[in-house]
Amino acid sequence: MRIMVTGGTGFVGSHSVRAFLAAGHSVRLLVRDAAKVRRVFDPFDLAIPERDVIVGDITDAASVEAAMTGCDGVLHCAALIDLRRSQAQRVHHTNTLGAELIVGGAARRGLPSIVYVSSASVLFRPGLPELHLGLPIADGTTAYARSKADSEHHVRSLQDDGHPIRISYPSGILGPDDPDLTGSNYALYTFFHDMGIVTSGTFQSVDVRDLAALHLRQLELPDGPHRHIAAGPALPWPEFYRVLDELIGHRLRRLTFPGALLRASGIVGDWVKHVWDFDYPMTRDAMEFATHWPGVDAAATRTELGFEFRPPAETFAATLRWLVHAGHLEPRLIGKLADS
Ligand SMILES: NC(=O)c1ccc[n+]([C@@H]2O[C@H](COP(=O)([O-])OP(=O)(O)OC[C@H]3O[C@@H](n4cnc5c(N)ncnc54)[C@H](OP(=O)(O)O)[C@@H]3O)[C@@H](O)[C@H]2O)c1
Repeated sequence: MRIMVTGGTGFVGSHSVRAFLAAGHSVRLLVRDAAKVRRVFDPFDLAIPERDVIVGDITDAASVEAAMTGCDGVLHCAALIDLRRSQAQRVHHTNTLGAELIVGGAARRGLPSIVYVSSASVLFRPGLPELHLGLPIADGTTAYARSKADSEHHVRSLQDDGHPIRISYPSGILGPDDPDLTGSNYALYTFFHDMGIVTSGTFQSVDVRDLAALHLRQLELPDGPHRHIAAGPALPWPEFYRVLDELIGHRLRRLTFPGALLRASGIVGDWVKHVWDFDYPMTRDAMEFATHWPGVDAAATRTELGFEFRPPAETFAATLRWLVHAGHLEPRLIGKLADS
């Protein structure tokens, strides 16, 4: 299959491209920066032919059309993730129009296999005992969260019309070889670089390599719309740190904060952006997720696709070793993992 990929120079997209190529498919990338394609894929000895790199934007119908022409499948991974208030409109516009042009465009063309990357966070509301695919779509408070929710409504309506769209719902995504140190990888980095935070709720992640393998399976499904949650086990925060301590051979420095305090700091952070606009990751949404996340159930994904997610310890180890290898963390910070 020739698969058009958006976000191919990002974390999820680059891993998914590598999985598709390894399985014998070819790719066509719609990217903002051709030089980044070389920076991301050269270390893996992967040369994407120039004719298969379309420089453009997911909000530009002409570049989307050019990238999609001649393709049999689509993976739409691209999203603008920027938490500054000044960028709110741009974030919402980019992500919703992108989903409309790419997922909607692929459906209109009648492409047989369309994969859209959503987020498990669209299922989240505080107070639920567990998240699952039967829940209504949640709105969120940031422009990014609202853009994912609105895109989700659009993509599901296309599914309801019978288009062969497969949606993945990742929890926090961790793993090596991240071109830009995205959300969960950045959180893990700060826990080691600065200090860990223990609170209420759970930490639930999926390994980016498992997510890429899941996208490959979704793409190769013979027909119909499908939805799959992509998540490993939800670890209560003390258990998350116990696994890390065991891996590194010492106790990671950490402080305990009540969930209510972190949630209040998220509200204050969002409010401060009215006067000082900064890309502060501790938003109200993020603190709700960190302190109230009940866990999302991926049992149906495992049964339907015969898919197993690797144990969190394996993901944490690979991510920490990569954080050191890429120069983000000093080797001493990851203890005995640095020697193995
Ligand atoms: N990371 C997580 O924990 C997480 C969790 C749940 C869901 N997700 C979803 O997973 C998907 C992939 O995220 P990621 O973690 O891989 O983030 P990422 O590394 O920031 O990748 C986002 C990609 O989107 C591209 N992009 C942004 N705006 C664009 C535009 N206007 N036109 C074309 N391309 C554009 C970026 O291009 P450049 O390479 O040029 O920057 C980048 O390649 C997103 O849909 C996100 O919502 C992520």
